[in-house]
Amino acid sequence: MARRDKVSKLTSLSPLHTARATRTHGPDQPLRLVPQPSRRRHDQDVTVREHSRNPDKEVIMDVMTAVLSRRSERRLAEPAPGEEEFAYLLRAAATAPDHGRLLPWRWILVRGEGRDALAGCCADNSVRTEPRSPRQTEASTRRAPLLATLVFTPLSDHKVPEWEQLAATSAMANSLMLLLHARGFGSIWRTGRLTESAQVRRLLDVQPSERLLGWLYIGTPEPAPAHTRRTPYDVTDRISTFTPHPVAA
Ligand SMILES: Cc1cc2nc3c(=O)[nH]c(=O)nc-3n(C[C@H](O)[C@H](O)[C@H](O)COP(=O)(O)O)c2cc1C
Repeated sequence: MARRDKVSKLTSLSPLHTARATRTHGPDQPLRLVPQPSRRRHDQDVTVREHSRNPDKEVIMDVMTAVLSRRSERRLAEPAPGEEEFAYLLRAAATAPDHGRLLPWRWILVRGEGRDALAGCCADNSVRTEPRSPRQTEASTRRAPLLATLVFTPLSDHKVPEWEQLAATSAMANSLMLLLHARGFGSIWRTGRLTESAQVRRLLDVQPSERLLGWLYIGTPEPAPAHTRRTPYDVTDRISTFTPHPVAA
C-alpha cells in the first residue's frame, strides 16, 4: 500500500477537533480548513488518513496527531521542500506567538553547492570544535538535502526582552517542524559547537549582532516513518494549582 494512501489506526488520548485541510493547487495556495468537532470520546481510537504532499490530495492531520506523531528524523533524503513551499510553510509558522510581532529571526537555506561549501567549512573547523573527525563532520553535514539555518536577529534595547524574542523564535521553529511533518517532510534541529565557529558564521554571513541557532535538517524520512502516536509523558508532577494562603488579619 502506498505510504500516502495508508490509513492508520491511531489512539486518541484527548478530545480532538479535527481540521480537514484541502489544498487544491500549487504550494502557495491556502489550505481550506474546516474545523470538525470530534464526535469521539477522548479515549476512543481514531482513524486518520496519512498526510500527503500530493497537491491534488486531501491533507488531513489533526493537531494532536501532528504533535504526537512528529519525531526528530535522522535519516533524510530527497525531496526537501523547494523555496516556494518552504516560504509557504514559514509564512504560517511565523504566526506563532511573538510578543510585539518582531519576527526576530531569519533563515538561510543551504543545499546543493551551498551545502558542499558548508560541509567543507565544518570539516576544516572540526578539529577545533567537534569531537568527530573532519571526514565524519563533513559527512554529517550531508545528512539531509536541505539545511535550513536558523539565525536569531534580536532587537537590542527593545522593550520586549531578548529572552522573549528567543522564545518567539523557538515557537516559530516548532510550528515549522510540525507543518513540515504534516506535509510529509521530516526534520531535526541540530546545533553543536559549529554554531559558534567564526568561519562558519563568516561563510553564512551571520552578523555580530546575530546568533546562529543551528540548522533544521529537512528532507523526506527514510525509511518512511510509521507515524504512530507516541505515549505522552506523565507530567503530572510538573503541574500544580495555586491556592492562596489566607491573609493574616
Ligand atoms: C534547540 C535544539 C537543539 C538540538 N540539537 C540537536 C543536536 O545538535 N543533535 C541532535 O542529534 N539532536 C538535536 N536536537 C534534537 C533533539 O535531540 C530531539 O528533539 C530529542 O532527542 C527528542 O526527540 P524528538 O524530537 O523525536 O522528540 C535538538 C533539539 C532542539 C530543540
